[in-house]
Amino acid sequence: MAQAQRKQQARDWPFEVKPLHPVLGCEITGITLAQAVEPTMFGKVYEAFLDYELILFRDVDLPPATQVAFARRFGEIQIHVMNQYQKYPEFPEIYMLTNADKDGKPTGKHPDKGTLHWHTDGSWRERTGQATMMYSEIVPPAGGETEFADMYSAYDNLPAEMKKRIEGKRAIHNLDFSRTRRHGEDPMTAEQKAKVPPIAHPIVRTHPETGRKAVFLGDHAQEIEGMDYDEGRALIEELNVLITPQDQVYTHVWSPRECMVWDNRCTLHRATGFDEANHVRVMRRCTINGDRPY
Ligand code: SIN
Repeated sequence: MAQAQRKQQARDWPFEVKPLHPVLGCEITGITLAQAVEPTMFGKVYEAFLDYELILFRDVDLPPATQVAFARRFGEIQIHVMNQYQKYPEFPEIYMLTNADKDGKPTGKHPDKGTLHWHTDGSWRERTGQATMMYSEIVPPAGGETEFADMYSAYDNLPAEMKKRIEGKRAIHNLDFSRTRRHGEDPMTAEQKAKVPPIAHPIVRTHPETGRKAVFLGDHAQEIEGMDYDEGRALIEELNVLITPQDQVYTHVWSPRECMVWDNRCTLHRATGFDEANHVRVMRRCTINGDRPY
């Protein structure tokens, strides 16, 4: 939903929202994140999450235990199959994106190069990501932003001929495919692969809560069911570009202590690069399990 349309909706929220971009995203002010997850407030905050697809709270104190507790308000948290990203044994729900070594110095390695390409979290699972809550601990002085693209308008803006071409089609999402392609120096183990076999999801999904249609694709999509592999790959590549035009993209420049929650069912996101050899970036992520797309 474009911001202009949103303004016309009567919303009775006991907090302020500041749009971050004409197409998606808002900052919530006037309440703290701790207040936002209280039972009496959460329903309204969730409305803002559905309307804006991405909500941001600044200047938040969010230790790992609190992050897990708050993320649980959105639903069941995924325990990621790539368990080498679980840095807190007591909180396997947290996926840590960090290039800091044990002394806090940069390792020179990007933690997950797959995140640098447009994707939606957990699209390689049967129950794909509903929301992701990400917290910024340390951010580099340049780069390391996160970009977001709205998949409702991506669908609305597709040429009629393309809508027809993809109608009823399903893409096969496969974490092993994207991991090998983007971060092949550190591939999945046989055990990890066995836990998340490739899975087909509709390319156009209906958001289970808003009822709106959205494109559901991104970098984990390997091939198109029932289509010649190369033809399917070409179509996926074409669509992934078509659905992420720069003027429809919100780029979030992080400051430390920010907490953002985005809706994986109607957005794609990707991180931008940074100088991993000289600067540190530490982000903590919890992804909440959603439904099987339809
Ligand atoms: C992600 O892709 O889930 C993380 C994005 C980021 O590191 O900015």
